Amino acid sequence: MSDGARLERHGAVAVVVLDRPERMNALSRAAVLALGAIGRTLAADPRVRAVVLTGAGYKAFCAGADLKERLTLQEAEVLELLQLYRSELGWIGALDVPVVAAINGVALGGGLEMALACDLRIARETAVLGLPETSLGIIPGAGGTQRLPRLIGEARAKEMILLGKRLSAAEALSIGLLQQVVSSSQDFLLAALDYIKPISEGAPIAQAAALRALRAAELPLAEGLAAELSAYEVCLKSADRKEALLAFQEKRPPKFEGR
Ligand code: COA
Repeated sequence: MSDGARLERHGAVAVVVLDRPERMNALSRAAVLALGAIGRTLAADPRVRAVVLTGAGYKAFCAGADLKERLTLQEAEVLELLQLYRSELGWIGALDVPVVAAINGVALGGGLEMALACDLRIARETAVLGLPETSLGIIPGAGGTQRLPRLIGEARAKEMILLGKRLSAAEALSIGLLQQVVSSSQDFLLAALDYIKPISEGAPIAQAAALRALRAAELPLAEGLAAELSAYEVCLKSADRKEALLAFQEKRPPKFEGR
């Protein structure tokens, strides 16, 4: 798959690469469609245990909407593009396996919004994160106004969106927007693959169940607790659960088969 995004396989980990380095990996219409096609491939592939979303090159994760393309679009076309963000990028927070944003450089506008839709976020120490839309006469239109305050709180989200405040990786780490910062001297992709090893090598049924239960934390508490119980019941019936108990008894690492 090309046109601005490609898919790599690293064992059970799928690495989705935003691939327009000459345009700071900005989201053109074609790139959004390419990401949608990749998402459908991943959703249909039971071998995939975790997904890493990253950008080509070392400068940009994604500089947001393709502003050169935007200049050529009519209002109705921009609205259609906003719908495409929802239909083509919606898989990011909805796959059965976790998606980790590996932010290798600037993440601005729609770039940061994609990262916000991911389950976890790590970044290279040189990354800069921001939602500069209001300075362009628009607002974040791919979930940013909703996901950012949920993640970092209302006032900090208002600073980023209304004041256009950009954060360094260290600042983003300190407020929980990032979970880990990787030194520039390290191989960034290897660091990302290492970070998600507990997921990619863990018990598949439990991982998927935990993700379902965690996503239900958006619901009212009683509904969330019910979702947790039904997710637990799935694990209870798995051979992996019995294997883990046996491995503990036999003092050896468990061999999970996803059954
Ligand atoms: N859309 C289209 N092209 C973009 C782009 C975007 N969002 N961001 C960067 N580019 C292009 C630049 O136009 C330039 O190409 P050119 O030399 O042919 O004009 C190339 O990518 C490199 O960008 P440049 O600005 O020279 O690099 P930089 O390292 O000095 O700055 C950024 C990088 C990302 C900080 C800067 O380009 C920027 O602020 N981009 C706009 C980001 C933005 O506001 N996004 C929100 C959209 S809602």
